[in-house]
This record gives sequence, C-alpha cells and structure tokens, in this order.
Amino acid sequence: MAALEIWESLKESITVHTGLSPATFFTALAVGLALYYLALNLFGYSSNGGGDGGFEEKMEPLPPPVQVGQISDVELKEYNGSDPKKPLLMAIKAQIYDVSQSRMFYGPGGPYALFAGKDASRALAKMSFEEKDLNGDLTGLGVFELEALQDWEYKFMGKYVKVGTVKSTVQVSEGQATEAAIGPEETANRDAAKPVEEGPSDTVSKESDEEKKE
Ligand code: HEM
Repeated sequence: MAALEIWESLKESITVHTGLSPATFFTALAVGLALYYLALNLFGYSSNGGGDGGFEEKMEPLPPPVQVGQISDVELKEYNGSDPKKPLLMAIKAQIYDVSQSRMFYGPGGPYALFAGKDASRALAKMSFEEKDLNGDLTGLGVFELEALQDWEYKFMGKYVKVGTVKSTVQVSEGQATEAAIGPEETANRDAAKPVEEGPSDTVSKESDEEKKE
C-alpha cells in the first residue's frame, strides 16, 4: 500500500517538476540512458578501471604494429584473428595492413572477419563475400572493379599501417593489370577486330593488323 502511495506521489512530482506525463518522462529517461551507454561503448570508455578479462581485455591499448616483411599467403593466414595474441592483418594488392584497431570489423565474429589473414583484393573489387573471390587475383576484373579496388587501397593506406607484402603466387604485374583493365567483354571482342583506344601498345598494334579482316 505504501509503495503505491510513493509511486503516486512520484508520478505527481514528475508531472509538477517536468511538465511531462510519467510515461513520457520514463521513455525519455530510457532513451537518454540507452544513448549514453551507446556513446560510452563507441568511444571505448568503461565504468571501472579494472582489467579483469572479458570486455575489458578487448579495450586494452593495442601494441604498436609490427613489420612482418614479405610473407606467403599461407603465413598471412596465421593473422586471421584465431590467435588473439597475434595482430589482425589483411592485404590489398599484396600490401599487408595491420587492421587490429578494427577488430570489430575483422576479428572473429565480425562482419568482415572473412577478409582477415587474406589478400582480399578480388573480393573488395567485386564487392563479394564469396570464398572464390577471397584472394589477390585481379585477372579478368573490369575497369570499374579495379577503380573500386583502388578506392579501397587509398582508404586502407590512409587508415592503417602497412606492415609487409605478400609473396604472391599470382603475379600481378603492370602488364597484367592493364590487360585486366580492358575487361572480359572487351577481351572477348578482340576477334571481332574492334579498334581499341586504351591498353598496352603492343596489343593495339596487333588489333590494327586484325582490323583489316572482315
Ligand atoms: C548491405 C551492404 C553493406 C553495408 C550496409 C555495409 C556497411 C558498412 C559500414 C556501416 C561500415 C563501417 C564504415 C566505417 O565506420 O568506416 C562498413 C565497413 C566496411 N565494409 Fe561494408 N557494408 C556493406 C557491404 C560491404 C561489402 C559487399 C563489402 C566488400 C565485399 C564491404 C566491405 C567493407 C569493409 C572492408 C569495411 C571496413 C573498412 C575499414 O576497415 O575501415 N561492405 N560497411
């Protein structure tokens, strides 16, 4: 009975002091608290200074990025987040970046965990999450895909520290990249003897020879 009275007088004083109905007041309070905790989490603050595991452990300052030099794609896999003591690495165009600071993206359970420990160039170029695209092979990519990949590379160069390169089995030489830039359709059309404005000069001369064919 006493509790009910307290509740009634609380409701009354809420209305008197805030001019809001109790329902509106509590809704606003809940939204405010939710936003407050969201902001705390986003900016990495915690309510206590302890470090006794769990969430706190993830909030520990990251060790500075360590250079790994030139490693194979098999070695790169070791940095996919399965060993929490190792940094999270990811490569674009055979350049390895330390992405440990974005563990929420690339760490285990993260939306982009599948890119960690890999050269994700092909997947990023094609905006694909398919297993077959999780590699650094740029063969057959079109101009727009290569442009998208370039944008990703700039983003990574600006955001993360480069810590090494991948000894790639798929050679991505200038020539091949340009060849790929022509795109699969254009490549297929070569026999149709279309003049090609862009592309390596040796290809152009070959094309002009073929141009004479009907
Ligand atoms: C429904 C589609 C998608 C949505 C809504 C989405 C949303 C997002 C958001 C909100 C971020 C965080 C941006 C930031 O805070 O910097 C992000 C980052 C990222 N997204 Fe997506 N994304 C989508 C599809 C994709 C696809 C298809 C790929 C590649 C295959 C991709 C690759 C990435 C990568 C690599 C990052 C992290 C970049 C970094 O390390 O800063 N996303 N995405």
